[in-house]
Amino acid sequence: MTAPDEAAPAGVPRHVGVIMDGNGRWAAARGLPRFEGHRRGLEALRRAVRAAQELGVRCLTVYSFSSENWSRPQEEVAFLLGLLERFVRNDLAELHRAGVRVRVIGDRDGLVPEIRALLEDAEQLTRGNDRFDLVVAFNYGARQEIARAARRLAERVAAGEIPASAIDADAVAGELDTAGLPDPDLIIRTSGEQRLSNFLLWQAAYAELVFLPLNWPDFDRAAMEAALAEYARRERRFGGLGPEAARAARNAS
Ligand code: IPE
Ligand code: IPE
Ligand code: MG
Repeated sequence: MTAPDEAAPAGVPRHVGVIMDGNGRWAAARGLPRFEGHRRGLEALRRAVRAAQELGVRCLTVYSFSSENWSRPQEEVAFLLGLLERFVRNDLAELHRAGVRVRVIGDRDGLVPEIRALLEDAEQLTRGNDRFDLVVAFNYGARQEIARAARRLAERVAAGEIPASAIDADAVAGELDTAGLPDPDLIIRTSGEQRLSNFLLWQAAYAELVFLPLNWPDFDRAAMEAALAEYARRERRFGGLGPEAARAARNAS
């Protein structure tokens, strides 16, 4: 599977990752139960997908349930699983009409067969779409993803398919759940927390990080615009020199 070939407009990140955090705090601040924050978080997700499409982003990866989120109370876990199901059942047709290709990353083996089938159907239905990629990270943990990739490469070496010397960064990237997608240019986290919490650790090597001081249920188009504006102000160097330092170096030689 490859990413949509059309590039994003200049200064606009092609791939945005979002750590949708702060649902519980949003609810607590209003004296509401946590699940109400999650329910409102689903509405924020719909706004985020729409805003990303309208603002010229090509790919959006949303962190909706981490490998570590199973440690929450059973009722909350059940509610979050139900919310994913509701999202796929309610929104898939509209996403498909809008040319969105849906992909789910994370450990599918940890999910019940009905949900696994639902996710596979969503991917199958939308696999030919090329206007926008919506990547849902569910039961996702970057360390687990990298370990799975390492295991598959080890199996291929053991089977004599490839020599160990063929394992380089590209080979690892090619075995990750995100194979074929561009790396995220920008990662947004809401709730004010400043950490990655096991999200896209490999792929985020050169991502710009933007932390927004609002809780996820309050996320809207203005918040997306603010994050994209911050991104546009950043100078990405990828280990090289920025334009000014490069000019100075040329002049000095
Ligand atoms: C994000 O909100 C949703 C998930 C992690 C599934 P939280 O539920 O983490 O909300 P806070 O961080 O407790 O406020
Ligand atoms: C990260 O948020 C996971 C998701 C947003 C799905 P958490 O709320 O689980 O992260 P921590 O525990 O604050 O690091
Ligand atoms: Mg949280």
